[in-house]
Amino acid sequence: MYKANKTVFECQSCGATSPKWLGKCPDCGAWNSFVEEKQDRVKAIKKDGGAVPQSLADITLDSEDRLSTGIEELNRVLGGGIVSGSLILIGGDPGIGKSTLVLQMLWSLYVENPAIRTPALYVSGEESPKQIKLRANRLNISGEAVNVLSETCMENIFEHIKRMKPSVIVIDSIQTVFTQEIPSAPGSVGQVRECALKLMMFAKDSGTPIFLVGHVTKEGAIAGPRVLEHIVDTVLYFEGDRGHAYRILRAVKNRFGSTNEIGVFEMRDGGLAEITNPSELFLSERPQSVSGTTVVATVEGTRPIMVELQALVSQSTFGVPRRATIGVDVNRVNLLIAVLEKTGGLHLGGMDTFLNVVGGLRIAEPAFDLGIVTTIASSFRELPIRQHVFVFGEVGLSGEVRGVSHAEARIREGAKIGFKEAILPESNLSRLNANIKPEIKLIGVKDIDEAIKAALDI
Ligand code: TYD
Ligand code: MG
Repeated sequence: MYKANKTVFECQSCGATSPKWLGKCPDCGAWNSFVEEKQDRVKAIKKDGGAVPQSLADITLDSEDRLSTGIEELNRVLGGGIVSGSLILIGGDPGIGKSTLVLQMLWSLYVENPAIRTPALYVSGEESPKQIKLRANRLNISGEAVNVLSETCMENIFEHIKRMKPSVIVIDSIQTVFTQEIPSAPGSVGQVRECALKLMMFAKDSGTPIFLVGHVTKEGAIAGPRVLEHIVDTVLYFEGDRGHAYRILRAVKNRFGSTNEIGVFEMRDGGLAEITNPSELFLSERPQSVSGTTVVATVEGTRPIMVELQALVSQSTFGVPRRATIGVDVNRVNLLIAVLEKTGGLHLGGMDTFLNVVGGLRIAEPAFDLGIVTTIASSFRELPIRQHVFVFGEVGLSGEVRGVSHAEARIREGAKIGFKEAILPESNLSRLNANIKPEIKLIGVKDIDEAIKAALDI
């Protein structure tokens, strides 16, 4: 017989369910992640019959559909502004600046869009209104743009929303709110999913954009079920090293724009400041004429950024050499070390290799390969890369250098920062537009040998 209120066990990391408690999740492999949750299987069906199908041709769009946040870096990551009715999740480590970012955004949104005269609603389950006021003072934000609500019960929150009709809603954080419809604790998979679904339905029905702030687990995923990432339209990660002031906002999912876009900020005393020229920032402390450092032209989304990559290659004191990296994938580096051994003739087998992308950026694009190869070669040979040179290109397993996308954008960015020469894949060079800046010398290379010779001037 069908029971309306059934007890199920649900994996807290992936949302898989089981009628019995399990020690290990068969879906995602997490240990000890099953928690008992009451599941209410009877879902309310809309009385008016729900939505009506309409012809795609009849749906009209107006350019007003995107709302500028007044923060250019945030607009770019969102794909050009906030789409009305969208649900946006901002995840990040505690203390990275998520609450600061949303509060600053609510204020600049209000300043930027004179048409909006209903205040935004900032629902905080973590901080008291006084704490929020203290932060607002620190950010120099005057209060009329934001209404603060310290509440965690979804039903009460919706009461206020219906009465107030806010222009934008922020829920800080999704792990602290709960709905009375299901009995499990706030922050559990069932609660997070149910609350997010309710908010999503409200966002789509009313056209109000909603921001959710989410915590991140030790492993770096947004706490709660992966299903949360499927529900929302946009997932942004706010990341950065707590020791550094730089913060990077990265879109990992975006239904309304490209992913991989990043926004760069600096956390200052008076809040987050936009960094519009990250290349200059990442290169500002670059040492001159030392070995083991290269400037690589990388592209994040559509935006070229020059970053410094450092390598330290030294004699290993253990039998097995150590390879550690910050900002690049260690497997990729191991692969490129093997290529350097085999076709580049560098004996790295007994050497410890450490790599670091300066400034806390994480880079996953293949065009970074040539940077990795030349930096390791420079440190190994103890020869500095020639001054005013930057590199980019993908490296294949037989040591060939392959062409990459956005070659022109990379070259222009390098020229803008003041570089005089670029080492790039031969195939990119032959396809380049003739109108590229003439003051920059372009050196096309076919394999890593040529690249290392050109970079180290040997
Ligand atoms: P917060 O937004 O509370 O982080 P989250 O919501 O992600 O947990 O940011 C907290 C940190 O930011 C805290 O360590 C202090 C720092 N901060 C500044 O450096 N300058 C400022 O103007 C503000 C408001 C915070
Ligand atoms: Mg916070």
